[in-house]
Amino acid sequence: MADWKNPPRLFIPGPVKVDDDVLQQMARPTLGHRGKEYSTLQAETVDMLKKVLFTEQNVFLSTSSGSGIWEAAIRNCIAPDETVLATCCGAFSDKWADVAELCGRRVERLKVEWGQPTTPELIEAKLAEGNYAAVTLVYNETSTGLTNPVYDISKMMKAKYPDVLVFVDTVSGMVGLPLHFDELGWDVAFASVQKAFAIPPGFTVAAVSHRALEKSKSVPNRGYYFNFEMWAKSAAKSQTLVTPTVQHIMALNYQCNKLLKEGMENVWARHKAMAEFVRGWAQEKFEIFCDEQYASNTLTTVKNTRGINVAETIKAIQEKHNTIFGNGYGKLKEETFRIAHMGDITMDDLKELLGWIDEEIG
Ligand SMILES: Cc1ncc(COP(=O)(O)O)c(C=O)c1O
Repeated sequence: MADWKNPPRLFIPGPVKVDDDVLQQMARPTLGHRGKEYSTLQAETVDMLKKVLFTEQNVFLSTSSGSGIWEAAIRNCIAPDETVLATCCGAFSDKWADVAELCGRRVERLKVEWGQPTTPELIEAKLAEGNYAAVTLVYNETSTGLTNPVYDISKMMKAKYPDVLVFVDTVSGMVGLPLHFDELGWDVAFASVQKAFAIPPGFTVAAVSHRALEKSKSVPNRGYYFNFEMWAKSAAKSQTLVTPTVQHIMALNYQCNKLLKEGMENVWARHKAMAEFVRGWAQEKFEIFCDEQYASNTLTTVKNTRGINVAETIKAIQEKHNTIFGNGYGKLKEETFRIAHMGDITMDDLKELLGWIDEEIG
C-alpha cells in the first residue's frame, strides 16, 4: 500500500520536493499573528519578496492555494459589466477563464492549440475587436510545459493598450523564470509556494499594482477573504486580514533569504541550466512537446514518441527508487510526460532520475 509516511521524491511539476532545512522552518514555535514578532516576520518577508519580484508596489500574502488569486484578481478588479480577455493555451489558462465566468464576469477566450504560445500579435488583434478591462495570461503553462512570451506581450500592452489591466498567473514561473513586476507593468501576478519556492502547499504570494488596488475600490461585491483593499489595510500594519499559516511565512522568509543571497539572475540561470540538461536528454531520447523557443525552464513536457507506457514507467521507478515524475496532464496523459526542474531540485537529482528512466525504457 502507498505509504504517506515514506513519501516518494517528487519530480512532478508541483508540489516539488522540499528540503529538510525548509521543513524545519515550519516546525518553529508559532507566533500570535497580531503580535510584534509576527509583524517583524511579515515585514521582513515582504521586503525580500519585493526584491525577488522586482517591485515597489504591493506584495500580499494569502493563506490559500494559487487558485484563490485567479478569483481574487477577477472579483477585485473587474466590474460585473466589464469583459475580460482570457488567453487560453492549456489546462490552467482554460481554468482561469472558467473561474472568471464562475465569478459572473463576461469572458472572451483567445484560444491557441495546447503547446502553442499566445503571441502579442494574437492579443493585439483580439483587443482591437472589443472593449476589454483586463487580459489574463499564464506565464508558464504547467500542463504543456510552455512559457508564453510575456515580456513581448507586456511591451505591446504598454505601447498599445496601457489602460487594460494585465493579470498573470505565474504559479509555475515565479522564482524559476525572470519576473520584473514593475517593469512589465503587470497588475496582478501570483504563485503558490509548492512550485519554485520549494515549500509545502497551501500558501500564495501575490503582487498587486497600485492601480489594480485603486480600481478594486470601485468594484462592488468583492467579498471578504480575498479583498485587496482589506488586505492592503492589514499589510500596512505588516499583518494579514485573517489568521495566516505563520509556518509558511517562516519557510518563505528562509527561502527568500537564500534566493537573494544567490541573486535572482543566478537563480534563473540555474533553472535554465537544469532545463537545458533535461531538454538535451528529451531530444536525444524522445522529443520536446513544445517548440524549443517556448519550452519552459521550470518543467519539461516530453512527447512520448517511443510509445512507452508512461504510467508503468512511473510505477516501476517508484517501486525501485521511491521517486515519481509526472504523467501528461489531462488529454496529454500517456502522449506526454512531465519532469519538474525547479526550486531545490538539483542537477544531481535530475541525473539520477533520467538515469533511472533510461534503465526502464532501455
Ligand atoms: C499554472 C498554474 N496555475 C494555477 C494552478 C493552481 O494552483 P493551486 O493548485 O496552488 O491552486 C496551477 C497548479 O498546478 C498551475 O500550474
